[in-house]
Amino acid sequence: MNQKVYIETYGCQMNVADSETVAAIMQSKDFFPVVSISEADVIILNTCSVRDNAEQKIWNRLDFLKGLKRRKKNLKVGIIGCMAQRVADKLLEHEAVDFVAGPDAYRSLPELVSESDIDLTHINTDFNTNETYSGIVQYKYDENAISGFVPITRGCNNFCSYCIVPYTRGRERSSSYVDIINEVTDLRDKNYKEITLLGQNVNSYFFEDVKQSVDFPKLIKMVAEAAPDMRIRFTTSHPKDISNELIDAIASYENICNHIHLPVQSGSNKVLNLMNRKYTREWYLERIEKIKSTIPNCGLSSDIFCGFSGETEIEFQETLDLMNIVKYDSAFLFKYSVRPGTAASKNLTDDVPESEKVARLNRLINLQNQISLKKNKADIGKNYQVLVEGFSKRSKEYLFGRTQQNKVVVFPAENVKRGNFINVKITDASSATLKGIIINN
Ligand code: SAH
Ligand code: SF4
Ligand code: F3S
Repeated sequence: MNQKVYIETYGCQMNVADSETVAAIMQSKDFFPVVSISEADVIILNTCSVRDNAEQKIWNRLDFLKGLKRRKKNLKVGIIGCMAQRVADKLLEHEAVDFVAGPDAYRSLPELVSESDIDLTHINTDFNTNETYSGIVQYKYDENAISGFVPITRGCNNFCSYCIVPYTRGRERSSSYVDIINEVTDLRDKNYKEITLLGQNVNSYFFEDVKQSVDFPKLIKMVAEAAPDMRIRFTTSHPKDISNELIDAIASYENICNHIHLPVQSGSNKVLNLMNRKYTREWYLERIEKIKSTIPNCGLSSDIFCGFSGETEIEFQETLDLMNIVKYDSAFLFKYSVRPGTAASKNLTDDVPESEKVARLNRLINLQNQISLKKNKADIGKNYQVLVEGFSKRSKEYLFGRTQQNKVVVFPAENVKRGNFINVKITDASSATLKGIIINN
């Protein structure tokens, strides 16, 4: 009988895509992916290490699974993803854990599960810089899904001093553009309406074969042309590498969404330098100006964190000041969490007290809420194309979808369904969502 496998995903969109790849690998070896934990014979946690609290969540979850295993004797539990790579041995010591696989070792998962039956080595954290999981068609849990992730690069070579990702994901590699286009056209044929090209730094995509060499601007144009009726998104862009050519491509293709996620991390040159981000505040602001002048009404979002080593009150204020200049539509805001093994953990002192980190984080959140509210209010009266995603969480009388700028819009449900592109006039706004009414459908 097929064993049922349940995968729980933590962390970033790359992990969401990887979980679908893992489900496909498991299915090809006679496992059956399920969506309810109570049915599972095998539970896999796809984990994140980016901040300490991401790892704490997993330790807590494992304590819960230990209890579940007592009640269900044959249940197996595996850990994959970034934390599996970082602390494999420690994880395997936990009573609940049967097998561990790092991000480049997913093809060996079916074997690892069977090996854990007979107590052989059930750990694989080998890096494989050639692994792009090409040729694997991701398993789709939702047959009616309309949007999907397509990884285009894996790993990272940037070594921002605070960041664990280069250590957990290994060196950067790009998938073949042929595989990427195949995946995109496959999703198009399955009626998908939106895809997001994924990588830690999509701008450094580069693939060369006998026919041609393809960089990111070229790739995104090929994708946009292969699926003219689909929305194309991408994330993440590293500010040091965002080129005029890419900005021009977004402006000239109707189906490449007018939204750029461009994480700044800090507004202070001293801090950016300590972070090894390889750009200055002035460079970043110039890129933002270029985006604003080339793509009118471009949605802008960012990642920012406070309390990095050496960040003084003055330098923190430079971050607030930059946020006031750029006016992001939304931002992911964090406080610094030291990651063992990174350059910052070795060479810098974590010298901003926790209470000060919390206070600064609250100031970031308050400011961004004010900016988001102002920007959303400025949308009132405007019309936007919205891709309908489903019913609003609060009421079946309302649907929700997103604008190209990646803003969520809620509107009364009438004669439209998931996957439709509609025009909506914005009538109200909060800091998190827009409200609107459907026009001329
Ligand atoms: N590759 C992407 C995102 C990587 S992780 C990029 O370069 O932008 C997502 C975000 O987590 C980062 O942008 C950063 O804001 C945050 N982050 C990464 N390491 C962190 C740490 N040690 N402490 C706090 N936040 C961190
Ligand atoms: Fe981490 Fe920097 Fe790479 Fe992003 S670019 S994953 S922040 S090292
Ligand atoms: Fe987390 Fe790894 Fe993604 S550390 S953010 S799951 S690349």
